[in-house]
Amino acid sequence: MAATTGAQASTADLSSSRDGSVDTIDPRDRLIVGLDLPSVEQAEAMVARLGESVTFYKIGMELTYAGGLSLAERLVGEGKGVFMDLKLHDIPNTVERAARQIARLGARFLTIHGYPQSLRAALAGVAGSDLQLLAVTVLTSCDDADLLEAGYAQGVKEVVARRALQASEIGVHGLILSPEETASVRKLVGPTMQLITPGIRPAGAAVGDQKRVMTPALAIASGADRLVVARPVIEAADPAAAAEAIVRDIASALSLVGKINQRRD
Ligand code: C5P
Repeated sequence: MAATTGAQASTADLSSSRDGSVDTIDPRDRLIVGLDLPSVEQAEAMVARLGESVTFYKIGMELTYAGGLSLAERLVGEGKGVFMDLKLHDIPNTVERAARQIARLGARFLTIHGYPQSLRAALAGVAGSDLQLLAVTVLTSCDDADLLEAGYAQGVKEVVARRALQASEIGVHGLILSPEETASVRKLVGPTMQLITPGIRPAGAAVGDQKRVMTPALAIASGADRLVVARPVIEAADPAAAAEAIVRDIASALSLVGKINQRRD
């Protein structure tokens, strides 16, 4: 039987919005739907089904290798936000040149694995463009045992904190991290970096291969700026209704955080 999510944070965690105020991104624009689909036709059909319920899409490796770059440009042309989740990591020359090519698409975000060499190279590649870089700290499918198996001496918490600080010092625009680490990383990197969290599961949803998960409301309440959600939306019987429900969760979490902070002021 698939494991399911449960409530994982106390109300004490629901007060972590920064500078005592909820920032200004519209709740709908905080949901980024991952188009993890095998063909451009299926992705286009999903975008049509989702309609106005979704304003921001993530295009990952599967769809990119199936011809998704032209879809990215079309979505940008239709006014949608586009996040290219290509997780670059290679020798600096290759990363810089690849990032420069991706910057031509007009997308908003690009992921780079959080190795300082690759982050610096990608920053050089996107210089002069509007493409913002997101450093992947540790994949949300990994736990301490996975890092140990891969040769790391430290656990997830330590590696995420180290990579978050390094990315912040290098000047990267944002971080991909698990919702479980958002609150502690926000304290480390300050208010300006965008914190974007995959590993989101509405209460009761199947976890699948993710290991560090949280509900949409709790992730927002813990300080995530935007959420990446793929399977819980694109595999839903009614994807638009699933997206709307997540947007409602985001909006109510933001309003709860706002009320808690008002009471404190
Ligand atoms: O289906 P699900 O909501 O688990 O999909 C999460 C999406 O976020 C996938 O496209 C995955 O590649 C991406 N992602 C992730 N963990 C990261 C970075 C990206 O799950 N650290």
